[in-house]
Amino acid sequence: MQKFCIVGLGNMGGSLARFALSAGYTVYGYDIKSSQTASLSSSALFHEKKSIEELLKEPYPLILAVKPGDVGTILSQIADNRLVVSLAAGISLAYLQENRQVKGPNIRAMPNLCLKVGEGATVLCPDHLCRESDLGFARTLFASAGLCEIISNESLLDAVTALSGSGPAYVYLFLKTLEDAAVREGLSRELARKLSRQTLKGSLALLEKTGQTNHELIEAISSPGGTTAEALATLKIEGFEGSIYKALRKAKERSREISRLFQENAQ
Ligand SMILES: NC(=O)c1ccc[n+]([C@@H]2O[C@H](COP(=O)([O-])OP(=O)(O)OC[C@H]3O[C@@H](n4cnc5c(N)ncnc54)[C@H](OP(=O)(O)O)[C@@H]3O)[C@@H](O)[C@H]2O)c1
Repeated sequence: MQKFCIVGLGNMGGSLARFALSAGYTVYGYDIKSSQTASLSSSALFHEKKSIEELLKEPYPLILAVKPGDVGTILSQIADNRLVVSLAAGISLAYLQENRQVKGPNIRAMPNLCLKVGEGATVLCPDHLCRESDLGFARTLFASAGLCEIISNESLLDAVTALSGSGPAYVYLFLKTLEDAAVREGLSRELARKLSRQTLKGSLALLEKTGQTNHELIEAISSPGGTTAEALATLKIEGFEGSIYKALRKAKERSREISRLFQENAQ
């Protein structure tokens, strides 16, 4: 079975390591906070390292799951041509390459928080030094914790960040608003919460199991002059769709700006 090294075992790194261990990977992990390894240590396949130097003695691909500001110092200690997979938002492939001691293959990964429960949505973007086997390794690893897709155009990662990276927050806002609105119409908080969550869950299952499109299902639910048609017309007038288009554009632009500021400050 495959082996890899991982530095940073917080939200993302800790979850990825947990799913990888369940899938049978051997994981060599290091985190500055030793408490982060507590839940992983029960697996015989997990090997805790006490420093980055000790971790890098293991000659396997390195997953970087620390905050963007902590990436530079770790990269500067990589003195071999192993595969590096970085989860750090806004850190470019060029930055990864320029800041390691020895050139080697790099992959940027943009996951989302749903990875914590094995339902993540991760997009990978490899650089030109990546071999098919490097990409295959990363794809299989992230697929152990949800969906994993690959793109070759790095600039699209800003749109990915705006969609699936930030996306869970939009979904929670939608659910919260639905719940609050139902409470205002007289339902108890508990019933409003149960019904709104089940409606989201059921709607997704229906989409996946029937193979019908969003549009077909909207048509199937709304009869002319009925309640759904009334609500949909109101959402249109109130700018529901327009505000989603705008929110995604703004998030994408902000992602681009944060990357640019990071690269400028790092120089
Ligand atoms: N959370 C998300 O939804 C999300 C989505 C997409 C991408 N990402 C990216 O994923 C990366 C990790 O995010 P996260 O939310 O998992 O962060 P996190 O929970 O803060 O985990 C990072 C861990 O790495 C430790 N650490 C920092 N510097 C280190 C070093 N030099 N050596 C070893 N360990 C070190 C941190 O310790 P300290 O706390 O003491 O610093 C922390 O325990 C980030 O780069 C972020 O941009 C996150």
